Amino acid sequence: MTSHAQNFSAIPADRLPALLRGMPKAELHMHIEGSLEPELIFALAQRNGVAIPYASVEDLRRAYAFTNLQSFLDIYYAGASVLLKEQDFYDMALAYLQRAAADNVLRTEMFFDPQTHTARGVAMETVVNGLHRACVDAQAQLGVSAALILCFLRHLSEEEAFETLEQALPHRDKFIGVGLDSSEVGHPPEKFARVFARCRELGFHLVAHAGEEGPPAYVWTALDLLKVERVDHGVQSSKDAALMRRLAADRIPLTVCPLSNLKLCVFPDLAQHNIGALLDAGLVATVNSDDPAYFGGYVNENFVQTFAATGLTAAQAYALAQNSFTASFADAAAKRAWQDRLQGFFEGF
Ligand code: ADE
Ligand code: ZN
Repeated sequence: MTSHAQNFSAIPADRLPALLRGMPKAELHMHIEGSLEPELIFALAQRNGVAIPYASVEDLRRAYAFTNLQSFLDIYYAGASVLLKEQDFYDMALAYLQRAAADNVLRTEMFFDPQTHTARGVAMETVVNGLHRACVDAQAQLGVSAALILCFLRHLSEEEAFETLEQALPHRDKFIGVGLDSSEVGHPPEKFARVFARCRELGFHLVAHAGEEGPPAYVWTALDLLKVERVDHGVQSSKDAALMRRLAADRIPLTVCPLSNLKLCVFPDLAQHNIGALLDAGLVATVNSDDPAYFGGYVNENFVQTFAATGLTAAQAYALAQNSFTASFADAAAKRAWQDRLQGFFEGF
C-alpha cells in the first residue's frame, strides 16, 4: 500500500475537482429552509395558494443580491412562507437529500427553524414529522444518514426559545441537537445560556452560530456559557490568537461555509477566505453549504470553488473530509466505517 503522502502529491491540480466531488463527506451546516430552490418556492406557493411578491423564478433569483446577513435573512424567511403542510417539509428535505447523495454526502446534520413556521400557525408536529420522514427515506432509498438539529432564532426572546423547546419535546426522538441561528450581531450567545443549559440536561448535542459577522467574543461565550460542541461559521476567530489556540487545543470543530461567506460579504472574495489559515492553525475545520439554494451551490460547489480560489491541496481535501466525519454526531462505529471509505477512495484515486 502506498502512503497517503505519496498519493496526495501524485494527484495533479487538474484532477482536484473530480477528487473533491467524488470523495465521501459529511455536511454539518446547512439550513433545510435554505435549500428551497426558487422553482420549488413557486410550485409550493401555487399548491398552497400562498401569494409571493415576485413575478417569476427569474425575478426571485434576481433578488438574491445580498450585502450582509440581514439582507439575506429577510428574503429567506419570506421564501419559507410557502411551507404549510407536512408534505411540503418532506418534499423540500428529500430534494436536498437527493442532491446531497449526488455530492457523495454520506452523513448530513440538517438545521431547521421551527419558529419560522410556528409563528405562521404551522404546528410543530407538521414541521418535524415531514422532515423526519424524509430523513428515514433518505437512509432507505439513498443510503444517506440524515439527522436533524433544531435551531432557536436568536433575534427572538429567551422565553420564546423555551416555548419552542416545550413544543418540540414530544418529538425529542426525531432530532439530535439544538443550535442557534438568525441575526447574530446584538444577539450574543449569553441571551440563551439558560435554554442551552436545559437542552444539555436533556442530553441534546449543542451547536451555535458564532463569529460569522459577530466578534470573537461571541465564540468565547458560545464555548464557555452555552458549552457548544461545534461552532457554526466561527471564521472571525482568526482575529483572536488566544481563541484560535483554545479551538485547536479543545478540538472544537468549525463548520465553515465559504460560498455563504462570499455572498454575505464576510470576505471580499473567495481567494481571501481564511479556511487555509484555519487548517494551518490545527483547527478541525469543515466545508459546508449553509443555504445552498441562495448562495450559489451545494457542498461540492463549495469545495470546488474554494479550492480553485485559494489553492488548497489534495492533502487538505483529505483533512477536510476526515474532519467532517470526526465532527459529526454519529456513533463511533459509523464514523469509522465512513472514514475507511474515505481512505479507500483516496487510495484508489
Ligand atoms: N439562517 C440561515 N442561514 C443563516 C446564516 N448563515 N447565519 C445565521 N442564520 C442563518
Ligand atoms: Zn448557517
